[in-house]
Amino acid sequence: MNIWQQLKKPIFALAPMEDVTDTVFRRIVTSCAAPDIMFTEFTSVDGMDSEGSVHVSHRLKFDNSEKPLIAQIWGTTPESYFNAAQELQKRNFDGIDINMGCPVPKIIKKGCCSALINDHTKAKEIIDATRSGAGKLTLSVKTRIGFKTIVTDEWIGFLLEQNLDALTIHGRTTKELSSVPNHWDEIGKAVALKNRIAPHTIILGNGDIMSREEGLEKIEQCGLDGVMIGRGIFSNPWIFDKTTAQTDLSSQKMLKLFLSHINLFDETWGTQKNFAILKKFIKMYVTGFDGAGKMRHELSQSSSIDNLKDKVEKLIY
Ligand SMILES: Cc1cc2nc3c(=O)[nH]c(=O)nc-3n(C[C@H](O)[C@H](O)[C@H](O)COP(=O)(O)O)c2cc1C
Repeated sequence: MNIWQQLKKPIFALAPMEDVTDTVFRRIVTSCAAPDIMFTEFTSVDGMDSEGSVHVSHRLKFDNSEKPLIAQIWGTTPESYFNAAQELQKRNFDGIDINMGCPVPKIIKKGCCSALINDHTKAKEIIDATRSGAGKLTLSVKTRIGFKTIVTDEWIGFLLEQNLDALTIHGRTTKELSSVPNHWDEIGKAVALKNRIAPHTIILGNGDIMSREEGLEKIEQCGLDGVMIGRGIFSNPWIFDKTTAQTDLSSQKMLKLFLSHINLFDETWGTQKNFAILKKFIKMYVTGFDGAGKMRHELSQSSSIDNLKDKVEKLIY
């Protein structure tokens, strides 16, 4: 049985997020309340297949405590997808996810990610090439409901014919970015298509879920196998906790968690990763209490990891 079939439903997944969900953040989230499954940041297959592959390999670093873990990939050349899939087998991931949802203009200009919504032939070539290289690893796709307009029937219907192990659907088009409410009704339609075309494909809904309760509601409302949560983790690192809906998010608890994050970042990356990436998390951990704004400002002036660590340590009592 593949990993998607082994997961107990309802499935709660942590979304792939560039410069956020690296091995360090995934371990921090796991230490609070583990999601059922996690994804790497999206990793370029063309980069993996080049002489500069060391520049993307940090994205594929993981610790076994993060499993089950899916490697998310994107790129232009089917042959590179094949080679990347072979490499991901060796690295012992549980599955491979193809990004067909990223809306960033400089990426879709290359004809990949959400641009594939307009090019079924290329999308199929990529899926087939990845599958040929993936061996026993599962194959899934993360996508949107359209490019300029909503085309759930055509696009999701097409993907469901590709015998995928799992499919994650964000309920907006590429053009909509995050500017309109998530179209949960379209995700409901996708579930009806799945039940007809590919009942074995696991289907996750994604978009604006801010609590486990909200996730459960959407799963029930749309008939989903599960949901994927992205930005909701920033407001509550314990969002995947099944035991309690009321998490104590006191400033001291959040600062202690931030200190663990800083220490693990230092231990894992040292100066290999840009310190600015770590600073981006200040907003997540220092928020919602009197004086948080002033504290954020002071922490953001830190000149090094040690300096930031020192300042956070002084705030903990
Ligand atoms: C900072 C950031 C980075 C992201 N990077 C990726 C990525 O690498 N791959 C991907 O498929 N989606 C990426 N996304 C999209 C998320 O996976 C998710 O689909 C989106 O945030 C909507 O879900 P949410 O409303 O729960 O946040 C990113 C989103 C954010 C906010």
